[in-house]
Amino acid sequence: MRKRRQRALLAVIGVASAVLGVLVPAGPASAAPTRYEAENATISQGAVESNHLNFSGAGFVNNDNAAGSYTQWTVNAASAGTATITIRYSNGTTTARPADIAVNGAVVAAAASFGSTTNWDTWANKTLTASVNAGSNTIRVTATTANGPANLDYLDFEVGSGSGGGAPTPAELLAKVSTCNQISNGKYKTDSDVATATVAVCQKTGAVFWKADMDIDCDGVRTTQCNETTDCCFQADTACHTSGNAPLNAAQLPYVVVPSSSSIWNYTNYQIGCGTVVAVIYNNQVLYAVVGDTGPTGIIGEASYATANALGINPDPSNGGTDSGVTYIVFQGSQRVSPIENHNNAVTLGQSLARTFVNSN
Ligand code: GCU
Ligand code: CA
Repeated sequence: MRKRRQRALLAVIGVASAVLGVLVPAGPASAAPTRYEAENATISQGAVESNHLNFSGAGFVNNDNAAGSYTQWTVNAASAGTATITIRYSNGTTTARPADIAVNGAVVAAAASFGSTTNWDTWANKTLTASVNAGSNTIRVTATTANGPANLDYLDFEVGSGSGGGAPTPAELLAKVSTCNQISNGKYKTDSDVATATVAVCQKTGAVFWKADMDIDCDGVRTTQCNETTDCCFQADTACHTSGNAPLNAAQLPYVVVPSSSSIWNYTNYQIGCGTVVAVIYNNQVLYAVVGDTGPTGIIGEASYATANALGINPDPSNGGTDSGVTYIVFQGSQRVSPIENHNNAVTLGQSLARTFVNSN
């Protein structure tokens, strides 16, 4: 069981989140993906419904609460290659709804986590990449537990246009961070109780990165998931604030914690601040999060409850997290997600900066 470390007192991370910049996509724009509404897909054990808000098209699929219930899309690829698949879903319960995602009958993401979206009117995206054939392909989402899958709204599908455009795959990003040009003055520990500091902050053109564990940050807005009872070390504030000057909501917003500035490393000297985009890579998935809080000066590897949840990592602040396997790529520069609490804007800016990063290294 991992121990959650004590948090340092909040450091002021600057007022960058209040500086409202316009999001200017950098690098080549990706071709638009094709949208396939779930209500037009093949449904096994379930029905098309429209009794919740904010869905796209005529409705969404409510599969039966049973293991094995599924929705299957048939999509068309202009050419064989790596496709980016985005599934829009809603899960109004507090428990993740895992599902196998299979392409042409082969599971490409086993028991992928479809985390809580707080209520059935709120939708989130699950993005993954997979190899597809030219022409027709099937993509099936099958519940692996008796709770059934999340409600499904649509699937966006796009075959990447090689190294030129589109959002990079996790593998493309990882290939660019396989060697370390160390910029930190020494290394960080992954937890307060480990003996040795093992994690360096490294730099490539346009980004700094580190490979570490993930501890769960549950600070900020008090929610069912994050409060004094669920989290021994709950603090009702985050270093970065929303556009309305409120603490961030760790249960809802994917954000990353950076170590407070110290003689080891000072992120503020690297054009990094509140709202900077971070690509968080874990288990062949990439999630775009924002810099949202600061942590202890000697420890690295921490992200919000929502970050863990979206990546299929146990988000429980008392016993969640993962001990290794997480890569954090922090895109340097003046562009910030605005408003910081808008995750969709983080994804758009992140995909664009990530493409630029891959093409420049
Ligand atoms: C509720 C909700 C449905 C959902 C279901 C579930 O009934 O209205 O849209 O599919 O819960 O738990 O799966
Ligand atoms: Ca259901």
